[in-house]
Amino acid sequence: MVSPVCSDHHNLLEPTHSLLQKLASHSQPALWHTQNVARKTRAFLTYLHTEPENALLITLAALLHDIGLLRVDAGILNKPMAIEPYEEVLFQAHPTHGEAILKEMGLFPQEIGMMIAQHHEQMDGSGYPRRVPCEQLLYGSHIIHLCDTFVSLQEETIRQKGRTPEEAWQHMSENAHLFHPELFQAFDRFIHRLDHLPVLTHPSFLLGAQL
Ligand SMILES: [Fe+2]
Repeated sequence: MVSPVCSDHHNLLEPTHSLLQKLASHSQPALWHTQNVARKTRAFLTYLHTEPENALLITLAALLHDIGLLRVDAGILNKPMAIEPYEEVLFQAHPTHGEAILKEMGLFPQEIGMMIAQHHEQMDGSGYPRRVPCEQLLYGSHIIHLCDTFVSLQEETIRQKGRTPEEAWQHMSENAHLFHPELFQAFDRFIHRLDHLPVLTHPSFLLGAQL
């Protein structure tokens, strides 16, 4: 049973939905991806018994983690072959764009923008776009990074053959130094006991749907 959403943050659901509709128009696969990551994040937070209000903020950040792709040319996102180095630079700006989009709207807590900005940062400081040292990374950023990586590795995209869950976890285990050690161990326990998650269609699932 999911705890009720905090009333202070009810007003964030419709702006979130509106942003996701824009993302769907820009890139349908990006929308599917964000929903998959949010679903995995919500379930992991439930597994961790994360305090409800914090879980809501992190799940909203997971839903919007790639919203910065709105400012990356769809031609780059949908390119069927490997992208050029200059296109990679443009792509790697999407966490910064995402934080800026939320800031310009003036509706979302700063913490959500920070988690979006940090979702590709890594524990050893090798991530992007800012190579943030691990001690400055938010708890929610570590969670989203884990879930995003696990989900992304399994997705079949225009440029990637999807891995099985076992192959994805094997790959992550070989690169465990990139993740928060305690959360990595917790994620290991989590994914090996939970296989099936419900389908998400609207952010209102945060109000207490089945997980
Ligand atoms: Fe991303």
